[in-house]
Amino acid sequence: MNCRELPLTLWVLISVSTADRSNIVPVLLGPKLNHVAVELGKNVRLNCSALLNEEDVIYWMFGEENGSDPNIHEEKEMRIMTPEGKWHASKVLRIENIGESNLNVLYNCTVASTGGTDTKSFILVRKDMADIPGHVFTRGMIIAVLILVAVVCLVTVCVIYRVDLVLFYRHLTRRDETLTDGKTYDAFVSYLKECRPENGEEHTFAVEILPRVLEKHFGYKLCIFERDVVPGGAVVDEIHSLIEKSRRLIIVLSKSYMSNEVRYELESGLHEALVERKIKIILIEFTPVTDFTFLPQSLKLLKSHRVLKWKADKSLSYNSRFWKNLLYLMPAKTVKPGRDEPEVLPVLSES
Ligand SMILES: *[C@@H]1O[C@H](CO)[C@@H](O)[C@H](O)[C@H]1NC(C)=O
Ligand SMILES: *[C@@H]1O[C@H](CO)[C@@H](O)[C@H](O)[C@H]1NC(C)=O
Ligand SMILES: *[C@@H]1O[C@H](CO)[C@@H](O)[C@H](O)[C@H]1NC(C)=O
Repeated sequence: MNCRELPLTLWVLISVSTADRSNIVPVLLGPKLNHVAVELGKNVRLNCSALLNEEDVIYWMFGEENGSDPNIHEEKEMRIMTPEGKWHASKVLRIENIGESNLNVLYNCTVASTGGTDTKSFILVRKDMADIPGHVFTRGMIIAVLILVAVVCLVTVCVIYRVDLVLFYRHLTRRDETLTDGKTYDAFVSYLKECRPENGEEHTFAVEILPRVLEKHFGYKLCIFERDVVPGGAVVDEIHSLIEKSRRLIIVLSKSYMSNEVRYELESGLHEALVERKIKIILIEFTPVTDFTFLPQSLKLLKSHRVLKWKADKSLSYNSRFWKNLLYLMPAKTVKPGRDEPEVLPVLSES
């Protein structure tokens, strides 16, 4: 030992002994085994931090049997001195574009000092796809809302075009309700019969327009008292039996509707409709009626208490709302071909 070596050995001895007194056992912060949920193709940063002495080292270890992975980067170590004179170090391992080979392998972070080592491990696991990712959830919500809107629109359209849909359905299925019920007429037409000048149009409507459209164009068979009943005989009995033989009672309303004769038709029809439930009543408002109090209260008990409004200018076409609504209320009947054949008057039943 020469004179130059002694002071160095002494210094080393002194420095090791002072370090021993104040050295701590380094510790890694956080749990020893960490499972990190990741999505393939994304990046992840594994942060390893430790409380250690100045000369201790912190490093990452992971399997690199197939050469170093270009997507794995060790970031620069960061150190901060604590008030006690020790160090708080952290080192991040950045894994970019995570692939299958990065999953389920150990990434170890080790802190080493003269007093020993401490290691913690990270394992990347595939994120559980049962967690619906945010964008899928948003898309799902949008689709759900769109479906809801579509359903609401569809229901609205169905409500608005209920009549057209029912008529179309009847046309498609060629449904006919009139074959087996044993009745003779599709409808009995009740209207004000005293032909005064002020109700002349109404009379024309009941005796000419209604039969022209319903009978000649749509193939229904109406019972119109003036036309089909031979004068004489017990009128009241006859009306009653005719109403019984009809599937609908069409009432052409007007201000002066309630004359004695039609009152009987109405009451007879109401009796059938309400008590026997054999006939349905269709109300047609030929001239605007503001006050319906003249009609019997019992009419309001009818379920489909609907009034069809005749609009002289708009209702003339066969395709108008008025005729569609009327057909809708009439019984389903297959339209007979040859609408334009010469008019055949309904034969009055002999009984
Ligand atoms: C790592 O974690 C430590 C404490 O847990 C924190 O102080 C440090 O800033 C983190 N480093 C990075 C790069 O996030
Ligand atoms: C990581 O640490 C565990 C135990 O802590 C050990 O079994 C494994 O071999 C280590 N892996 C690497 C790549 O160092
Ligand atoms: C290394 O490569 C071999 C084949 O080349 C493969 O079977 C093995 O899974 C690879 N290991 C890792 C850790 O990527």
